[in-house]
Amino acid sequence: MAYNLLKGKKGIIFGALNDQSIAWKIAEKCYEEGAQLVLTNAPIALRMGEINKLAEACGNAPVIPADVTSNDELKNLLQKSLEHFGGPADFILHSVGMSMNMRKNNHYTSLNYDFTHKTLDISAISFHRILQLAYQMDAINDWGSVVALTYIAGQRVFPDYNEMADAKALLESITRSFGYQYAIKKKVRINTVSQSPTRTTAGSGVKGFDGFISFAERMSPLGNATAEDCANYCVTLFSDLTRMVTMQNLFHDGGFSFTGVTQQVMEQMEKQ
Ligand SMILES: NC(=O)c1ccc[n+]([C@@H]2O[C@H](COP(=O)([O-])OP(=O)(O)OC[C@H]3O[C@@H](n4cnc5c(N)ncnc54)[C@H](O)[C@@H]3O)[C@@H](O)[C@H]2O)c1
Repeated sequence: MAYNLLKGKKGIIFGALNDQSIAWKIAEKCYEEGAQLVLTNAPIALRMGEINKLAEACGNAPVIPADVTSNDELKNLLQKSLEHFGGPADFILHSVGMSMNMRKNNHYTSLNYDFTHKTLDISAISFHRILQLAYQMDAINDWGSVVALTYIAGQRVFPDYNEMADAKALLESITRSFGYQYAIKKKVRINTVSQSPTRTTAGSGVKGFDGFISFAERMSPLGNATAEDCANYCVTLFSDLTRMVTMQNLFHDGGFSFTGVTQQVMEQMEKQ
């Protein structure tokens, strides 16, 4: 059921790779709620062509390539979005992450720092880059809303999350620091949503992901939040119903983050 929560709003969605992507579900939900969209991803990801299906399902939304590590490509994306929308956007979703060290199975204690720089650039500094360009180009309307997706490993240790934990900590810090600046300038709010483990291309790249996902399921009183649940939550954050929420890391994880132990886990331990 749609509530028209985003009627008349315009948004830019980063990171829909395929129909498993959290950004894909968020784009679908935003469109269903009345938003007009621009979709973007790295040129190499667009070559797979999947995103055209999403664009079609979202009212023939334009797809504009941009590698998030390139200022020029991001500037072009924002310029084209301003032209397409006939003015600034009302919301932006950052749903981007990548770790070369994880891909190469480099342990946290033997990182390749060239890869680490790339990881931080793509997964965290890109958020600052997008916000800084939007700030300078006046590409977000007053009371606009920006959301980036994060994971609890930015705050607590999950060893297999490797260097992405550091990237998420930086992402969450940028959210607070830029959230302050953009609130003062234009009442734009900036938050991260800390999502349950979710089966996607990036998610499945985490070592031992199956164990990870079932542990979280047992440790969450409501169970793991799905990508569809995440999409619903993001819609509320892009809507006018959450105008005073900014600079927050918002857990969207079925209660996992505040659970010490559950009956299910205790029973499992006792069996052993
Ligand atoms: N899947 C999970 O368990 C989970 C949990 C919490 C948070 N998250 C976060 O959600 C976000 C989306 O990930 P997902 O799980 O939907 O996986 P995904 O693989 O579908 O999405 C990751 C996206 O990042 C894009 N990307 C990578 N490098 C890029 C670059 N240089 N320029 C532009 N885009 C680039 C990819 O093309 C892809 O679309 C990530 O920030 C991830 O860390 C995921």
